[in-house]
Amino acid sequence: MFTPVIMAGGSGTRLWPLSRGNYPKQFLALTGDTTMLQQTLLRLKGLAHQAPLLICNEDHRFIAAEQVRQLGVQGASILLEPVGRNTAPAIALAALQAVATAPDAVLLVLAADHVIDDEAAFRAAVQQAEPLAAAGKLVTFGIVPTAPETGYGYIRRGAASGLGFQVDAFVEKPNLPTAEQYLQSGEYYWNSGMFMFRADRYLQLLGQYQPAMLAACQAAMAELSPDLDFVRVKKAAFEACPDNSIDYAIMEPLSRDEPASVVVLPLAAGWNDVGGFAALWQVSGKNNDGNSHHGDVWSHNSQNCYVRAEQQLVATVGVQDLVVISTKDAVLVAHKDQAQDVKHIVAQLKAKQ
Ligand code: GDD
Ligand code: MG
Repeated sequence: MFTPVIMAGGSGTRLWPLSRGNYPKQFLALTGDTTMLQQTLLRLKGLAHQAPLLICNEDHRFIAAEQVRQLGVQGASILLEPVGRNTAPAIALAALQAVATAPDAVLLVLAADHVIDDEAAFRAAVQQAEPLAAAGKLVTFGIVPTAPETGYGYIRRGAASGLGFQVDAFVEKPNLPTAEQYLQSGEYYWNSGMFMFRADRYLQLLGQYQPAMLAACQAAMAELSPDLDFVRVKKAAFEACPDNSIDYAIMEPLSRDEPASVVVLPLAAGWNDVGGFAALWQVSGKNNDGNSHHGDVWSHNSQNCYVRAEQQLVATVGVQDLVVISTKDAVLVAHKDQAQDVKHIVAQLKAKQ
């Protein structure tokens, strides 16, 4: 039985003004009635697992707790980070928490903000991964790439190993020419950002590659007293922790030094990490004109738009490929192909504060 670890500490700035600092995208119902965090939990139904561990910023503790409560999930622990130090430390906190009660715990590390269409395929992949992880492998889930995306990790498929492949190289966020070359070669998967491994194995690797990070996380988790369902990490110790992602901190060096330790299982499950409005449009329901409308939205002679009206009626006439988001205090109008650049607006707003 594995322990689901759900990372929910991201800020989702490319979906502004839907996603806000105090209410980031993983806590929003963007595709359906449940939030992305809730969908992540619901997707586990039917798999035998321990109570989940959630890791998020302490500012979001009540939102996270309420969303877990709404689903009736029993026994979940919520680890609270005083500051974000990226995914390698977040996973280390979860691993330390897990080994404290079960020294042989196997973790299924998930992002709280992914869409997966084919849940049965997802669950089948997790079931294939579990024995490999229990045996000490670091299991990744590989997505067949469809574009030279530079925001993803790339996994080079090596020799066949059971139902998956050994990983010959793991390259996090390559530049565009490199990504294009990887795409053409047909030898690479995208890293889905989900992982399965033993908690003790992860901590051992962290000690090997990131000793300062391991020490800071151990200090941050030492002699904690629980606060309801929350585990409050020690602030000063965690602030001193180096900032890095699991991809750079562990996966890249490990696949270079010990390729036999890393496995990739192909995952064809309609995975999407909803990195921006174009992706959100893609995974959302659309009318015959290709428009995805949410709320009180009207249109005439408009095609392939994503329009969300939260407070007031919104209408479009004679426009194509637009993103229009109207919330109670902000309106965004963007071309769908450039909507990811909304992060520059967020940066400008932050600088002004
Ligand atoms: N608790 C916590 N603390 N969670 C975090 C933190 C943190 O400091 N930073 C990020 N997260 C969460 C995010 O909410 C998200 O669910 C997940 O961890 C991944 O973080 P991202 O910041 O979204 O990573 P990325 O998209 O740049 O890259 C990762 O995901 C790609 C696929 O979506 C990498 O694993 C890539 O290799 C991968 O292709
Ligand atoms: Mg991401």
